[in-house]
Amino acid sequence: MSASRQEQNKPANTPVEAPNLEWLEGEVPRAEGFDDTYFSKAGGLEETRHVFLAGNRLPERFSARERFTIAEFGFGTGLNFLTTLLAIEKLERPPKLTFVSFELHPMNTDQLARALGAFPELGELTSKLLSAWGPEPGWNRLEVAGAELLLGIGDARKLIDQLKLNAVEGKGEALMIAPVDAWYLDGFSPAKNPQLWDADLLKAAAKLTGSDGTLATYTSAGWVRRNLQAAGFVIEKVSGFAGKREMVIGQKS
Ligand SMILES: C[S@@+](CC[C@H](N)C(=O)[O-])C[C@H]1O[C@@H](n2cnc3c(N)ncnc32)[C@H](O)[C@@H]1O
Repeated sequence: MSASRQEQNKPANTPVEAPNLEWLEGEVPRAEGFDDTYFSKAGGLEETRHVFLAGNRLPERFSARERFTIAEFGFGTGLNFLTTLLAIEKLERPPKLTFVSFELHPMNTDQLARALGAFPELGELTSKLLSAWGPEPGWNRLEVAGAELLLGIGDARKLIDQLKLNAVEGKGEALMIAPVDAWYLDGFSPAKNPQLWDADLLKAAAKLTGSDGTLATYTSAGWVRRNLQAAGFVIEKVSGFAGKREMVIGQKS
C-alpha cells in the first residue's frame, strides 16, 4: 500500500486538537464542541451518495475525464472522501482524483477507525486511509488508493488563501491546484458552525471553481443560500436526504 505524506506551509507551533466525541446509537460520532453529528443517523453512506455525489451529478461527470478535482469543507471522518473513492473504483476508466479538504480538528486514528468501522461497504479503503493518517498542521499530501488527498489542517478561512489555481502566474509559496470541479459543503449545521458558511470563505471557494464547477450541500438555510449567490453560484433547492424537505445544489454562474 502506498502512503506518502508531505507537509507544506506549516504554521509553527499550532497544536492539532482531536475533537471530543460522544458516540450515539449506531456509532454516529457527535462533536461536543459543535453539538452536532458528523453525518445523518439515518445512514451516513447513503446521505453522502444522495447529497454530495448525486448533488454534484457524480459519478456521471467522472466519465471521459482524465483528472477530476473535488474540494470539501470539513473532512471529519473521511466518509465523503471514501464514498467518492468507492464510486470511482467501480468505473472502467477512472479519472485521477484530487480531493482537497479542510479540517480544524482532525480525528485521531482510533476515532477515525471507530467512525468508519460502521461502514463495512468501504472495505479496504478504510484501512488505506488509516495507514496514511497522521495529519499535521498546514497542508498534508496523502496518497490513498490512487487518489491524491490534499488535506489542510487548520481553519479553512485561513488555509484557503494559500491555494492558487494552476493557471495563475507568480506562484510564490502558494499550493497549486486545478480548478475545482465539485464542492462538498459539509460544515456542521450553519447555526452551530457559521465559520464554514462564511461569505468570504464561499467567495474564495468560488474563485477556485472551474467554469462548469458545481456544489452541493445538505442545508438550505436562507443566509447560506444568500452567501452562495453573492459568491457567484446559481443555486437550486432539491429534495434532501431521509425526509429532509430541501438541500441545495449549485453551479458557478
Ligand atoms: C459535518 S462534519 C464533516 C463530515 C465529513 N465531511 C465526513 O465525511 O465525515 C464538519 C467538519 O468541519 C470541521 N470544521 C468546523 N469548523 C471548521 C473550520 N473553521 N475550518 C476547518 N474545518 C472546520 C469540523 O471539525 C468537522 O470535522
